[in-house]
Amino acid sequence: MRRGAAYNPWRPTNYRKRDPTTVTALTLSTSSAAALRADAVVVGVAKGAKSPVVAAGAEAVDKAFGGKLAAVLETLGATGAEGEVTKLPAASGLKAPVVLAVGLGEVPAKGDGYDAETLRRAAGAAARALSGSKKGAFALPIEDPAGAAAVAEGALLGAYTYDKSNGNGRNAKDKDKKNNGPLAEVALVGGKPRDKAYKAAAERATALVAEINRARDLINTPSNLLNPAAFAAEAVAAAKEHGLKTEVLDEKALKKGGYGGILGVGQGSEAPPRLVRIAYTHPKAEKTLALVGKGITYDSGGISLKPAGHNETMKCDMSGAAAVFAAVVTAAKLGLRVNLTGWLALAENMPSGSATRPGDVLSMYGGKTVEVLNTDAEGRLVLADAITRAGEEKPDAIVDVATLTGAMVLALGNRTFGIMTNDEAFRTTLHEIAEEAGEQSWPMPLPDHLRKGIDSPVADLANMGERMGGGLVAGIFLKEFVADGITWGHLDIAGPAFNESGPFGYTPKGGTGAAVRTLVRLAERAADGDLG
Ligand code: BES
Ligand code: MN
Ligand code: ZN
Repeated sequence: MRRGAAYNPWRPTNYRKRDPTTVTALTLSTSSAAALRADAVVVGVAKGAKSPVVAAGAEAVDKAFGGKLAAVLETLGATGAEGEVTKLPAASGLKAPVVLAVGLGEVPAKGDGYDAETLRRAAGAAARALSGSKKGAFALPIEDPAGAAAVAEGALLGAYTYDKSNGNGRNAKDKDKKNNGPLAEVALVGGKPRDKAYKAAAERATALVAEINRARDLINTPSNLLNPAAFAAEAVAAAKEHGLKTEVLDEKALKKGGYGGILGVGQGSEAPPRLVRIAYTHPKAEKTLALVGKGITYDSGGISLKPAGHNETMKCDMSGAAAVFAAVVTAAKLGLRVNLTGWLALAENMPSGSATRPGDVLSMYGGKTVEVLNTDAEGRLVLADAITRAGEEKPDAIVDVATLTGAMVLALGNRTFGIMTNDEAFRTTLHEIAEEAGEQSWPMPLPDHLRKGIDSPVADLANMGERMGGGLVAGIFLKEFVADGITWGHLDIAGPAFNESGPFGYTPKGGTGAAVRTLVRLAERAADGDLG
């Protein structure tokens, strides 16, 4: 293709800054669920022994129904099953015109409350069902600040919608008319606005979810509208807003620095690659974490082209970089007592006359050489450069996040990410942290015997090895680029990063923002000196 011809949608100059992510407002309310002016009041319904039971928090609503809300719900077919949503007209005495009952699953054992994830999912399902409304009053069973945090997070995450009018500005002047936009306000009934712990929980949820939703927006943005330069520009703009330091290496600087991995992957594209360093520092920080994100704005596979059926969703291949970006900004918003350096390894993997060929040898940042046996194993190449670079700053730990392998999706499915490390204790810690954050993950091994599979007769390493255990082979490849003495973790989020089926709980269709909550929790644990 001739360069510099008329309109070229890949050119960064044609990129219009996205509208800011619409953020659902969160308020803590002291009024009773009956007295709150809202479009709907959300209550919980659980599966009782024989019939559904109304959960705590809904007392005032139940009273307006003469104590018969559970019976009414049962008549309407509600069972209390998780995720079930039943809408009914409100009884007189309620300010809201509609009651929305959301299923919570089994009633917890006596003395136990609902666990955080159950509350998150229920609040998310309710918020999705209220898409396009102005205000939802959430009267779910909140017993403590942790419960409030869970309902807030779930509702704000579930409220997310991608604004289809976020185009390149050429034909999208109006806001998307078909898409109603997110629920505009979530009011937490029983939220205790004068209690410090409740207030902190609300502030944390608001900051965290705004950044997760920004990550989702970036992931959902089509690749012709978000190339590496455009992504870098987003990071720089956000950094300015939140007092973060950024450094952007463009293709010239990458060449000068010897970043052969990032350049090798990006050289087939009209849109050149970038390496972004985005850093948050706290003056009293005792720990420094480096987060490295795979940012392939489109993965066609390159010369080892992906077959049809495998490339339609590959705009999601920058989800790791989006997660890292979101986590660093969240840490800044929360003022965490930790230093966090994000590395966004951005490139577009395309086939062309200038693309890397299978069989080529790349000279990576730091000097190792890699034989590219398969240009579709590109993530590990950009990550290798960024991990090496991150290691030069001697952080206390490096964690990379990447939609790295189809093999990990086969192994763990669509909702669980894999954790690999060079340190067993850290693997356990990361798994615990993910669990605390409400994300599903599983520890995976890096068996030594797979190492010889990535030997190459013409370079230090090959970018592909045994087919079996492909997710682990990728981890073993990355491990080669971790400087001695640095604790390292690798999160392969290829499964949970992008939801191709219908929405569920607080998870929308499309970009999910997987790993952001885990990274933020990791930063908080590091700030507390509690990395296990
Ligand atoms: N981006 C893909 C991995 C992927 C697959 C992400 C499915 C999300 C959903 C990655 O770059 C890739 O193509 N990996 C190859 C590696 C192989 C060629 C060694 C794979 O997994 O097939
Ligand atoms: Mn690939
Ligand atoms: Zn990829």
